[in-house]
Amino acid sequence: MTDERQAAEREATASTRETGFPAGFHWGAATAAYQIEGAVRADGRGESIWDRFSHTPGAIVDGSTGDDACDSYHRLDHDLDLLARLGLTAYRFSIAWPRIFPTGRGPLNEAGLAYYARLIDGLLARGIAPFATLYHWDLPQALEDRGGWLNRDTAGFFADFAAALGRRLGDRIAHWITLNEPHIVAYEGYLYGQKAPGKRDAALLAPVSHHLLLAHGRAVQALRAETPAATQIGLALNLTAIESATDRAEDVEAAALLDGLWHRWYLDPLYRASYPDDVQRALPLPPDLVRAGDLETIAGQTDFLGVNYYTRARVKAGVGPRPRILPPAGRRCTMGWEIYPDGLEPILRRLRSDYQPARLYITENGVPVADTLTASGEVHDDARIEYLREHLQAARAAIAAGVPLAGYFVWSLLDNFEWQLGYTQRFGLAYTDYATQRRIPKDSARFYAALAATNGATLDTSRDDLTPPSV
Ligand code: FCB
Repeated sequence: MTDERQAAEREATASTRETGFPAGFHWGAATAAYQIEGAVRADGRGESIWDRFSHTPGAIVDGSTGDDACDSYHRLDHDLDLLARLGLTAYRFSIAWPRIFPTGRGPLNEAGLAYYARLIDGLLARGIAPFATLYHWDLPQALEDRGGWLNRDTAGFFADFAAALGRRLGDRIAHWITLNEPHIVAYEGYLYGQKAPGKRDAALLAPVSHHLLLAHGRAVQALRAETPAATQIGLALNLTAIESATDRAEDVEAAALLDGLWHRWYLDPLYRASYPDDVQRALPLPPDLVRAGDLETIAGQTDFLGVNYYTRARVKAGVGPRPRILPPAGRRCTMGWEIYPDGLEPILRRLRSDYQPARLYITENGVPVADTLTASGEVHDDARIEYLREHLQAARAAIAAGVPLAGYFVWSLLDNFEWQLGYTQRFGLAYTDYATQRRIPKDSARFYAALAATNGATLDTSRDDLTPPSV
């Protein structure tokens, strides 16, 4: 180890002793292109499956679309300044594939790329580390027309997209996230049909998941070939605290199966180059799906695992092999999800013991609240403050237990388009007034800014004793 690295490690340990968070811990917020950008026809952007889906009557609960969303495409400087006012040290955003390749492949659209170059340069100028996600669900519609994720070729097109971005932006991005939540793409996009492309067929789960994982593996190779050696590449999986509702053997087994379907089905190929045997009995792999070399590609070396954590699922045996998820037992948010901070630390510890990722980030965590703007223009979101506090306390406990957690990203920077729930859910640190597109930092933004400013030292400080930075 070099002296420099030893010094850095000593400093990290000292900081961990003081605040519970290592020096250099990233305090970030996350967004996704279709949820905030709007400007869906600007500068040559092509159509995505979310444009098509959100314009399908009945698909979005409030009849809205992402056509305008938070108009972040036109308010880029303003949003960059907001990040800087909050003092965040990292920003996770996604790059819309159809802005770069309007039909998914072919000639690169320079105007679309220029937007992300401005975003990245703007972050760096403000001392904020860019974490770029390549696929946050906005597949170019032209690729969907060729079979989308059911078509193995999509993995290759995705690798080409990754290579082009690596070539053009790789000198300025130290952290890349290939995919966001392949499990949600498969289940909500292809089994339950609540999300784009809105298909409902259990037979599609295995091919879609496999092609997504293959796309990840190929994109990692493509990025490695095009980016500097120190570049960190990972992906973001959503993990749920899955618990058996009772000690009965059949319920324990059902919980293990659900953990297999939702978690190990992705983690095992990524970290062990195999699909779990027990799950294959419930979700058989069609012949010819997994070709020679695929699993080695998928399990190629990643630098970190991103964890998106929101809630718990309590499970009982169902009729036949399908696990049954019980309605939430405790506190719930406006989306109906149970608020369950106790689930986070065990998940992080389990990832470390079962899969040993070199580094972990919490790439999403947050809560929708029925926020209202007071007459004096404030948003008192105490419930969000408590949610963030409890989850960050769990994250800190995981760090104390030796989990290599290097950062945390609140979902989300702004209230935004929450997929099939439209604009009915407010997740932001800043309130979006959609009529004027004004962003109003909520009380939680001040709470979080204090954490970013002190590397977590104010985490246990009660609200009354906290003098938060003005944002
Ligand atoms: C996650 C998504 C993110 C957001 C949150 C609430 O599954 O990645 O875009 O919708 O849920």
